[in-house]
Amino acid sequence: MLIRQLFDKNSCTFTYLIGSKDKNSIIIDPVLNNVDVYLTLINQLNLNLVYSLETHTHADHISGSGELRNILNCDSIVGNESGIECASKFIEDNEYLTIDDINIRVLYTPGHTNDSYCFLVDSIKPGALFTGDTLLIRGTGRTDFQSGDPSKLYDSITNKIFTLYDDIEIYPGHDYNGFSKSTIKEEKNHNPRLNLKSKKEFIDLMNNLDLPDPEMMDIAIPLNENCGLEK
Ligand code: FE2
Repeated sequence: MLIRQLFDKNSCTFTYLIGSKDKNSIIIDPVLNNVDVYLTLINQLNLNLVYSLETHTHADHISGSGELRNILNCDSIVGNESGIECASKFIEDNEYLTIDDINIRVLYTPGHTNDSYCFLVDSIKPGALFTGDTLLIRGTGRTDFQSGDPSKLYDSITNKIFTLYDDIEIYPGHDYNGFSKSTIKEEKNHNPRLNLKSKKEFIDLMNNLDLPDPEMMDIAIPLNENCGLEK
């Protein structure tokens, strides 16, 4: 099994390509602007793309899922809660997606958005958790739009992600500080947002971040609700 991490410089988004021993593959959170890069890599590695998976409906970049589906005939997959009618398939909590030797456990982790999911590849040791914007390295996703909810985010991280094995590797949906991956243990010990005294403190912090809206938000959300394609 192979994992490739690709970075979109404009939105600081990570996209992941996971390939099986039999050359089938899954892409997580593709960015429309980089579809040519993915196509080249998929071709160079001699892979067949089976699924394009979204961790959530993104506000800061346009998804490449619809374009990849048009070109490679893969299935685009989103969470049940997203309401994205153009998707090929919907997933829900605790479902498994399996391709050859790749086993992905789907975890519903609302909070950053109401349609946020994490994907746990548990067919390798120590396990790889693709956290989208639910849990970032030394940070978390924001909770101030798209039905974001700091209370739900806290519960998703502490009751779901932090109950998994400590040595599982975390592959986040973004990074703004030069990190690429972490582990559950590392984030339990060193994530400043999660080392607060109480859930209330976390909620207060998240409700007072006072961040500007993402530049692409008004364009990206409606397009992503249509698989990243113009209507
Ligand atoms: Fe996001």
